[in-house]
Amino acid sequence: MEQKLGMRNKYRKSTTLRCSAWSRCSLPVALWIMVGCLLLLLLYSLLPQWDSFSLETQLQVSKHLHELEQAEEEIIQMPPPRKRSPRAEKRKPKKETTIIDEFLDESSQLRHIFFPDIKTAVDPNKVNESFYYYPGRIWLDTEGNPIQAHGGGILYDELSRTYYWYGEYKDGPTYIANENGLARVDIIGVGCYSSKDLWAWKNEGIVLAAEETNETHDLHKSNVLERPKVLYNKKTGKYVMWMHIDNANYTKARVGVAISDYPNGPFYYLYSKNPHSFDSRDMTLFKDDDDVAYLIYSAVENSELHIGPLTEDYLDVTDTVKPILIGQHREAPALLKHESTYYMITSGCTGWAPNEALAHASESIMGPWETLGNPCIGGSKIFRETTFFSQGTFVLPLQGLAGYFILMADRWKPANLRDSRYVWLPLRVVGAADQPLELDFGFPRWSRLSIYWHKRWRLPYRWNG
Ligand code: GAL
Repeated sequence: MEQKLGMRNKYRKSTTLRCSAWSRCSLPVALWIMVGCLLLLLLYSLLPQWDSFSLETQLQVSKHLHELEQAEEEIIQMPPPRKRSPRAEKRKPKKETTIIDEFLDESSQLRHIFFPDIKTAVDPNKVNESFYYYPGRIWLDTEGNPIQAHGGGILYDELSRTYYWYGEYKDGPTYIANENGLARVDIIGVGCYSSKDLWAWKNEGIVLAAEETNETHDLHKSNVLERPKVLYNKKTGKYVMWMHIDNANYTKARVGVAISDYPNGPFYYLYSKNPHSFDSRDMTLFKDDDDVAYLIYSAVENSELHIGPLTEDYLDVTDTVKPILIGQHREAPALLKHESTYYMITSGCTGWAPNEALAHASESIMGPWETLGNPCIGGSKIFRETTFFSQGTFVLPLQGLAGYFILMADRWKPANLRDSRYVWLPLRVVGAADQPLELDFGFPRWSRLSIYWHKRWRLPYRWNG
């Protein structure tokens, strides 16, 4: 009994002790809880505002996006030089081959690295690999056929809440055009694919087809139709397509315009022209927040880019035009906007062979544009110097994820253009643009634009555009 009492007493005593300890430390604890809450609030306010996501999802998304910004290495080992007979060596001493030579060489032992075979294809019907992008692999549509939308661009159709991907449908034989020795595929038309998630693409068919018989028509199959881009015009309710129109030796150098009532066509071809009376080759469109659309094209034998607004109906250019990046020989322009700054990715002019991308920035779309440098991160030096063995074509903003974009690029295969691959990678503009300093100490004024190499990556879970 005594023992029991003693136990009870002991128990009581300890309770009293805890209570007094609690009252003694309750103030600091409360303070820490408050600090914790404040920190959580601060963290919450720092996260991009994804209204439809819970805090937990936002933290997961944030972690995922952070992972996408980690540099991922990929080293390619050059194969040992092929054995040649001493006679052949004497006749023509072999110059050292580069990785780019290997990339372009059909019989290279490295071929499978640049152009993995069909067994590795990204297939929307294989659910265990859902939503993963594998830059460079064959990408199948929902019917199991390789997607044909090269040099393409994406339109998000707000009316149907669907993405439409338009590009060159190149599923024909590659041959060398006599005029210039360049590999080509006859025009087949503009392919169109639709998707709700940017990963599983349904073939919507050829929305603008080649002309089979009339040889004088711009779209006659013997000509060139490249880099189609589509915008929706709110005022007219029409879908307007612009594209590079050329002849087989690229001396016509025009832009073409087509129109449709629906995003999935058919598009009706209207006309082609030399915009502002200039030659025009690689081109793109960009629609600004105020719905003014711009045409950007390589001009004066690709030595400079031109930029100018379209008319209100998007069916023509206006008289306003500015030459930019003069003398810099850039092509394959792709534009984006972040926090009122305009950015542009361009490539050098080396035909189907890959080269180094550059990023440019401007406070006004009409310029002056400043060159920031090579935006590629990760892979290896040669990956970065070749835009991951590809050439940009379009930059897609990720809705609800301010500052995050996808770079769409083409890994051209001049030996068989229909088997050219897509390289989609995360692109980020980091932080608010630095304000120009009152005294210019030469600090960069722009946020960095970065494109991150990943062998395999995906958009955050539950991102649903
Ligand atoms: C590239 C251009 C491509 C295609 C190719 C033909 O410079 O970006 O769109 O025209 O040349 O060689």
